[in-house]
Amino acid sequence: MPYFNSGILDSITNADLSYYEINFILLEVLGRSLEDVRIKGISPQELEKVKPYIEAARRYPVEYIFRKAFFRNLVLYVDERVLIPRNETEHLVDIALRLIGERGLERILEVGTGSGAIAISIATEGDRPVFASDLSSGAIQVASMNVRSSGAADRVFLFVGDRLEAVGGKWDLIIWNHPYVLPEEYHSLPPKVKVEPEMALVSTLDTLIEFLKEAMEHLSDRGFVLLESSRPFIRRIMEDFPRARIERDIYGMERFVLIERR
Ligand SMILES: C[S@@+](CC[C@H](N)C(=O)[O-])C[C@H]1O[C@@H](n2cnc3c(N)ncnc32)[C@H](O)[C@@H]1O
Repeated sequence: MPYFNSGILDSITNADLSYYEINFILLEVLGRSLEDVRIKGISPQELEKVKPYIEAARRYPVEYIFRKAFFRNLVLYVDERVLIPRNETEHLVDIALRLIGERGLERILEVGTGSGAIAISIATEGDRPVFASDLSSGAIQVASMNVRSSGAADRVFLFVGDRLEAVGGKWDLIIWNHPYVLPEEYHSLPPKVKVEPEMALVSTLDTLIEFLKEAMEHLSDRGFVLLESSRPFIRRIMEDFPRARIERDIYGMERFVLIERR
C-alpha cells in the first residue's frame, strides 16, 4: 500500500522541475497524477521507479525522455529531430482556424512544420487540407509518423524544402512558427532548450524579412502570412511591413503577426 511520507514527496517536488514535468513523469511511470500522489502518498517501490526519471528531467526535456508531447487534442511523437511544440503555439492554431473560417481561405501552407503539430491541428479541427514543409528531412520523418497516427494522411501533405523554394502557385494562408532566437541570444538559452535542434531555434532578422518578401509573392489576392515570432523580430517586421497586425499570446506577450497581402 502506498503510504504518505512528506520527506519522500519533498524529494520529488524539490527537484527544480515544474508541476507540469513532475506530473508528466508520474503519469507516464506510475499512471498517477501529482495530485493523487499528494493525497494518497507514494510507496518506496514507486519512488524507486520514478527517481531516475526525475534525475534525468533535470537535464533533459521530459518530452524527449518519453518521446511524447501534448498539443491541443493531439498526442504527438517527438524526438531530438524536432522542436517540442509549445503551449503558446496552440493559440496560433486558433488564429488560423478563425481566419480560414471568416475569410473562406482554402490553400493553406505551413513552413517549418517540425513535429507537424500546427498542420495536423488545422487539418483535423478544420475542414481544409494543409500542405506542410520543413528544411529538415528528420523533422519531416517525425511529422509523417504523427500525420499517420492522427489519421490525417488524407489531409496533411508533407515535403522537404527550404522556405518557399519548392513551392509553386498561390496560397491563401502561409504560416511559419519561425526560429526566433537571434544568434547572439543562443548562448543564454537554458541547457534544456539547447537540446532542441538549433535550426528550429536560431535565425536572423534578415532571413525572416527575405522570407516575408518571398511569401508576399506566393500569396493569392486574399492571402495572409501568419507568424509566431519574438520581440526583436516583430520590431523589425513592423519597420518593413507597417500594416502587420500583432496578437498577444496566453502570457500577454506580443507573439503572433498577421500580414495581409493587400
Ligand atoms: C520554431 S520551429 C517550429 C516547429 C513546429 N512548427 C512547431 O510549431 O512546433 C521552426 C521550424 O522551422 C524549420 N526551418 C528552419 N529553417 C527552415 C527553412 N529555411 N525552411 C524550412 N523550414 C525551416 C525548422 O527545422 C523547425 O522545424
